[in-house]
Amino acid sequence: MKMIMHNPFPTQVIEIILPEMKLENKKLEKLILEERKVDAGIKKSNLGGSWHSKTDIQLRKEQCFKKLVQSFKSCALAITQTLNTKFDTTKYNFCAAGWINVNTEGSFNAPHTHPNSTWSAVYYVKVPEFDDSNEGRIEFMDIGNSKDALNAKEALGVLARKRFKMNAKEGTMIMFPSHMLHWVLPHNSGNSRISIALNGEFVKKTKGQSA
Ligand SMILES: [Fe+2]
Repeated sequence: MKMIMHNPFPTQVIEIILPEMKLENKKLEKLILEERKVDAGIKKSNLGGSWHSKTDIQLRKEQCFKKLVQSFKSCALAITQTLNTKFDTTKYNFCAAGWINVNTEGSFNAPHTHPNSTWSAVYYVKVPEFDDSNEGRIEFMDIGNSKDALNAKEALGVLARKRFKMNAKEGTMIMFPSHMLHWVLPHNSGNSRISIALNGEFVKKTKGQSA
């Protein structure tokens, strides 16, 4: 017998610790909480009172925001080059945009994807202590038939997995393909969970832009 294993639908969720952001988190927190006091925010996937800023992180002048956008771009490039060696990143600009989420007690983000992007990420600025290990987690979902997968769970193990939860950790960025369905679980802490979400896509360089 000869067996050939194929991996038809591989995916990756990447957890990245950003030591360069360690000193920036306090500044980010202060700026974000000040902004929230004077800006009503916008409605997207945020429910139950969570605050979503305008999508303008990429335009901000403060060093803490600039540094985060740059880290996201560097990570996206490195991951793409590792996962798809056939893709020539030098022919593209990686364009990023981002926004802030402040999730207060009981609030959450409904299941969603990030359309028109290649890579998305969430960076955790402030994560309160939670009583329950599921509080404030991000959960990724496979949109295949969940009922069938449940039946096969015991035998197939990880191959039948339809849901994957990760903890929010201060100073850490979680990067994932933008088309992956995900949501953010509510929490019961009296303190806010603060994160910054980022989207990025590869845009082909025009003539005159160096390859
Ligand atoms: Fe999201």
